[in-house]
Amino acid sequence: MKLPPSWLLASGITFTMTAIPTATARPWTQVPRPRAENTTTNPTYFFTFGDSYSQTGFSASSTQPSASSPMGNPDLGTGTTTNGPNWIGYLTTTENASLVLNYNFAAGGATIDNALVPAYPGDLASQFRLFEDVYAEKPETAPWDAKDAVFGYYLRGWGVATYTLKLISRLESLVEEVYKNGGRKFLFLNVPPTSRSPFFLDQGEEVVKQHAEYLAVFNRNLEEMVEKFNKEKGDVTTVLYDSWSFMTKILDDPTAYGFPNATCIDDDGTSCIWWNNYHPGMNTILFVGYYYYYYYYYYYYYYYYYYYYYYYYV
Ligand SMILES: *[C@@H]1O[C@H](CO)[C@@H](O)[C@H](O)[C@H]1NC(C)=O
Ligand SMILES: *[C@@H]1O[C@H](CO)[C@@H](O)[C@H](O)[C@H]1NC(C)=O
Ligand SMILES: *[C@@H]1O[C@H](CO)[C@@H](O)[C@H](O)[C@H]1NC(C)=O
Repeated sequence: MKLPPSWLLASGITFTMTAIPTATARPWTQVPRPRAENTTTNPTYFFTFGDSYSQTGFSASSTQPSASSPMGNPDLGTGTTTNGPNWIGYLTTTENASLVLNYNFAAGGATIDNALVPAYPGDLASQFRLFEDVYAEKPETAPWDAKDAVFGYYLRGWGVATYTLKLISRLESLVEEVYKNGGRKFLFLNVPPTSRSPFFLDQGEEVVKQHAEYLAVFNRNLEEMVEKFNKEKGDVTTVLYDSWSFMTKILDDPTAYGFPNATCIDDDGTSCIWWNNYHPGMNTILFVGYYYYYYYYYYYYYYYYYYYYYYYYV
């Protein structure tokens, strides 16, 4: 379990919901709007890279994100694979504690580098080049700096097990490029248990098992990379969000979240965990966000308890 440090709060990207979901409630209808703390502070510039789990169809050459349209283009909830917002849309528009502007380069099917694992166009390497071409010089439309820009990465790590280290080290070099351009705050999401998606389940136990083993290695290597990067740089803030654990909880107990079971599919994005045979629906994504909040809350509870103990008994 990784705890979100205070910059997530400070940078405006945080979950500020006040209720923990109950087993029967459909909490997405009850998400309280975050309170405005200081509407005059600078926006948070949220640059994101990833694949279909993150795609929103944003075009860097079209309408730019602004206070009246924080996703820029297209409209919130379109261009995704959830039938609604995905994690980026939620973080930008409903789970934000201040104004967040999102610049999303994620493209469906993206790998880390097509030179390593050939796939669709729009791999992470080219997403980075697009960022560099359009935003690295901190244009008037996105005058970001080290303090108010957050760089988010979420990839499922297509590839084969033997490639994992290579892929991760390529990812590291791309993160390093952003660092050279002045980025200092980084958010990474590890890979959720896609081995348990109907897409893999349909291929039989052996495939599921192999894929799960591969993901475990990928996630471990990612975690090591993030730790190493953090240590080597010294002046960066990194957060690794454990989407694997949180989505596992939902798959282990689907009815607690209002889903009939762990395998049904419905493209309404709300009735089932899965929107299609590989992508979770928008409500699943929102629940994953709830876990984030829940653990954050728990952390503070623990923290105060600890101090209470310290002052009264020491
Ligand atoms: C809000 O932020 C602005 C700019 O940083 C600052 O000047 C102002 O004092 C802040 N207002 C409050 C109420 O904190
Ligand atoms: C969160 O983002 C939305 C959409 O930009 C905005 O309307 C809202 O004021 C933001 N919340 C806070 C607390 O700033
Ligand atoms: C899962 O739920 C769906 C929708 O209610 C249903 O059609 C399907 O048969 C269920 N699957 C299993 C394995 O129970």
